[in-house]
Amino acid sequence: MCGIIGYTGTAPAVDILMQGLATLEYRGYDSAGVAVVTGNGNPRVRVVKRAGKLSNLREILDGTWLEGRTGVGHTRWATHGEPSDRNSHPHQDSDGDLAVIHNGIFENFAELKSELIADGHEFASDTDTEVIAHLIGRHSDGLARGPEALADAVRAALRRVEGAFAVAVVDRRSPDTIVASRREAPLVLGHLDGASLLSSDVAGLIRYTRDVEALLDDQVAILTPQGITITDLDGNRSEGHRYTVDWDVDVAEKQGYEHFMLKEIHEQPAALRETLLGRTRDGRIALDEQRLDDDDFCHLDKVYVVACGTSFHAGMVAKYALEHWARVPVEVEIASEFRYRDPILTPHTVVVAISQSGETADTLAAAAHARAQRAKVVAISNVVGSSLAREADAVLYTRAGPEIAVASTKAFTTQILALELLALFLAQLRRAMFPEEWQDQLQRMAALPELMEQVFGQESAIRQLAATVAHASYVMFVGRQVGLPIALEGALKLKEISYLHAEGFPAGEMKHGPIALIEQGGPVVALATAGHVRGKIVSNIQEVKARGATVIAIATEGDTEIKAHADHVIYVPEVHELLYPMLTVVPLQLLAYFIATELGCDVDQPRNLAKTVTVE
Ligand code: M6R
Repeated sequence: MCGIIGYTGTAPAVDILMQGLATLEYRGYDSAGVAVVTGNGNPRVRVVKRAGKLSNLREILDGTWLEGRTGVGHTRWATHGEPSDRNSHPHQDSDGDLAVIHNGIFENFAELKSELIADGHEFASDTDTEVIAHLIGRHSDGLARGPEALADAVRAALRRVEGAFAVAVVDRRSPDTIVASRREAPLVLGHLDGASLLSSDVAGLIRYTRDVEALLDDQVAILTPQGITITDLDGNRSEGHRYTVDWDVDVAEKQGYEHFMLKEIHEQPAALRETLLGRTRDGRIALDEQRLDDDDFCHLDKVYVVACGTSFHAGMVAKYALEHWARVPVEVEIASEFRYRDPILTPHTVVVAISQSGETADTLAAAAHARAQRAKVVAISNVVGSSLAREADAVLYTRAGPEIAVASTKAFTTQILALELLALFLAQLRRAMFPEEWQDQLQRMAALPELMEQVFGQESAIRQLAATVAHASYVMFVGRQVGLPIALEGALKLKEISYLHAEGFPAGEMKHGPIALIEQGGPVVALATAGHVRGKIVSNIQEVKARGATVIAIATEGDTEIKAHADHVIYVPEVHELLYPMLTVVPLQLLAYFIATELGCDVDQPRNLAKTVTVE
């Protein structure tokens, strides 16, 4: 959700904050703002903020003198209060001594707000965040000046709040200090000589340092130019999770592509190579982190896969691989539903939690629920040291590199590959496959990146096709077996970036209702690659064709017969049936991208969305 950044050091803070916000804008772009501690003799906190994208804030900052070497910045995805200037962060206390930025939701804010109003506090916004600013302000009154005093006030205020948050505070009475904390929302600290930084993610820090430390739940960090100290909520010294980042800043930049999404679509072959790198050790497939015994996997009786959005679609593909290769029963469930029912979980249940960011609130809560029931949690995440990875019993990283576009692409294909590796890992431990069988599958996987590169050969044909589809009133996607999650993913990609009405259906279900929606010429994209359901899907194509649909088929190279049924055909190279999803999704990603650009949409930052959904 929101992006937060903070800097204290010797350089002009506003430049570093704006640079960081540009990197974090994908997390939310309803409004943006900065607070800088200005003035030496008589420091004060100056706040500049604006509704709308970061460019609006940049415009006013261009004409504003905002000198200071300590500050915080925020880019918002609204939860409480409409996107407006007054609801933009940072928020201040009654006296304007301090400013707070916040990502998350304070669930008991209404109760705290009533208490503060009864105490005479007046509020300038409709946000939950302003409450914490007033609370910290109230706890600061009468305290000594300096970093420790500010940290005391923050700790006291945070002990009163419920919910998920990452917060950062600057105060004129402690001008070279930022105090920050988190609970169930990401916050990473950056260590460097003569300065300290914080950010919602590593991408906001990597320009300045690779020496980073993930703050853990209910820790409080005190940042000064001299360094960072961490305590718990009672003030006892503590430590975060410190590590060195191993990717470069240019990975998080556009490198000549018009949009991050197009760049990330093209990065997929390289990302798949990374996902596969060094996966066998001593003749065995290995996870990145395993705090479980092999026996835990050998004796498992059921796998639940939990995830949201695109990651959920990757989980749907995984079900086929886990059941087919590892011979284990699998249920795939939307994380926000799983957490509120009472699934039957035992110490022999493995819950595979998939999250690109590793910070999605619903997926984290589902994993926490599973662990509380003593089930084992395996995390599939793209972010090393993410909350999900830290909480899990075993981790497999997707290694896709930073994904900036809100619409997930390379995270998806690498998730599928990682999940299929997990299926082979389980198959091996449970002796569900002969060694030559899983080795054969690994070899097929190793060929995927090159085969995917061939799909890009049809990019200009897909662009032309997109121009003809862009003005349709809807687009339907149909598939069967592993084609079904790809139909759902194709529809999700299209709707989120083009706002075109798009739905995915199991092809066999069309005649049970959805076929009524078909209009003359209405586009239907059908996943019709080779395999045991190809004949079935051809029958389904004929059913929609007979009702006037224009059919775009995704088929296997060499299948010329499909041309008799479809109006347009996009070919992908032949692979094992379970590997098709990683190839067939690429034309659908490109189709969505070109339709969105044809319609003039903001591809990387679609309306109403945010990259990381850290609220429920
Ligand atoms: O970081 P996560 O994988 O947990 O995110 C889950 C969804 O929010 C995410 O996949 C979302 O659906 C994307 N915008 C889809 O493109």
